[in-house]
This record gives sequence, structure tokens and C-alpha cells, in this order.
Amino acid sequence: MAVLAGSRLECVRGKDAFTIDAAGIAALARGRAGVLLDIGTGDGRYPLQVARTRPDWLVIGLDACREGLREGSRRAPRGGNAIFVIANALALPPALAGLATRVTINFPWGSLLAGLLDDDAALLDGLRAVSRPGAALDCRLNGGALAEAGWSLGEGGARVRQVLRGAGFGDAAGGGPLELDAAALRACPSTWARRLAHGRDPRAVCLHAVRQG
Ligand SMILES: C[S@@+](CC[C@H](N)C(=O)[O-])C[C@H]1O[C@@H](n2cnc3c(N)ncnc32)[C@H](O)[C@@H]1O
Repeated sequence: MAVLAGSRLECVRGKDAFTIDAAGIAALARGRAGVLLDIGTGDGRYPLQVARTRPDWLVIGLDACREGLREGSRRAPRGGNAIFVIANALALPPALAGLATRVTINFPWGSLLAGLLDDDAALLDGLRAVSRPGAALDCRLNGGALAEAGWSLGEGGARVRQVLRGAGFGDAAGGGPLELDAAALRACPSTWARRLAHGRDPRAVCLHAVRQG
């Protein structure tokens, strides 16, 4: 069973910090067409883009690093459909349980990437706990981060796909790993995707999975 840490969500909006409890986040999610949880969101550019284009969705950007979140959260749309949560992905807050209809993990590094490669139960149980049955999970992995962790792009992608499958996230219909080149990275609305597109190793792979019921 998932063990999710902390009963309240620690949130930031610019320089302001506040907390939301499970009832508060459930109220924000109620009646929405979908709820996106972007894990390891960095400056939150990706969820902000979704929040702007899908005002009927609630988007949640989550990262362990407060500084990056401060900058991005300042640009959240006024409609209140984007929130930014400080948390460790290896100890996801229980207030997020069963909320997400879509989870994204874009270009993880550090303990987030290691957790995916090492089949860390704390991370995988948490991912399952926050996702509704049928939720989509998109995971984009870049060649440089995988190389630093000792994996080639192909083998690292295959390993994470295997780990996700074992955790109950099967391949989405028609969705094997999709290789991303510089053009595909430029089209991805995340800060790290743009950096990679213009860097020395503009290669990545995108895994599309679905949480089994
Ligand atoms: C390369 S950046 C990618 C940021 C963003 N997803 C993007 O595409 O621009 C990796 C992010 O993963 C976050 N991260 C790494 N380990 C984490 C963990 N255990 N929990 C939460 N975030 C983590 C880092 O703080 C960093 O912001």
C-alpha cells in the first residue's frame, strides 16, 4: 500500500507560502474536466501552459525545490486553476491521493530519476496512489540525465517502462516509447525541453502509460 507523507500540502505562490488540506484540494478539483499533476515541475512552465490552454482543468506543479517554484508560480493565471506544491516525489502528500487524471514527469534527474530506474517503492506506490484508475502517465527522459545515471537512452527508457508496468502503469494504446529529437523537444512547453533542444545532446524518449484499474 502507498505510504503518502504529510497531511497538508505546502504551497507557494511567488514569495507567499500557504498550506491546503485534503478537503481544500478536493474542492479545487471538484467539477474539473481533469487534474494534471506535474512531478519534478521545475519552474512550472509545463503545467502553466496547460492551465492557460485548459481553464477547465486543475493543474498541480510539484517539486522538491522551492526556489524554482517561486518564479513559476508568480505567473499562475488569475482563474486559480494552477497551484504549486513543495514536496519530495518519494514521499507524495496524502492530500493528493486519487486526484490526478494525468501525471507528467518531464526530464527527471537526481532522486526522481533514480527512483524510476531503481523501482523505488516509495515513488511507485505514491504514483499509483495519486493517480485515478485510467489516468495517463507521460514520462519524458533525456539522454544526458540517463547517461549520468549510467544508462543509454534506449536501455534507460526500456528500464523505466518495465518499472512503470510493474507498478500498474501499462503502455497506453498504440503507445510504445516515442523518440524525441531537437524539433520535438522545441515543441514541448517545458523549460528543460527547450534547453535540451539547444544543447549538445538533444535526445529524449517519451513513455505514454495508463494506470490500470
Ligand atoms: C531537469 S529538471 C526538469 C524540470 C521541468 N520538469 C522541466 O521540464 O523544465 C528536474 C526537476 O526534478 C526535480 N526533482 C528531482 N528529484 C526530485 C524529487 N525527489 N522530488 C521532487 N522533485 C524532484 C528537481 O528539483 C528539478 O526541478
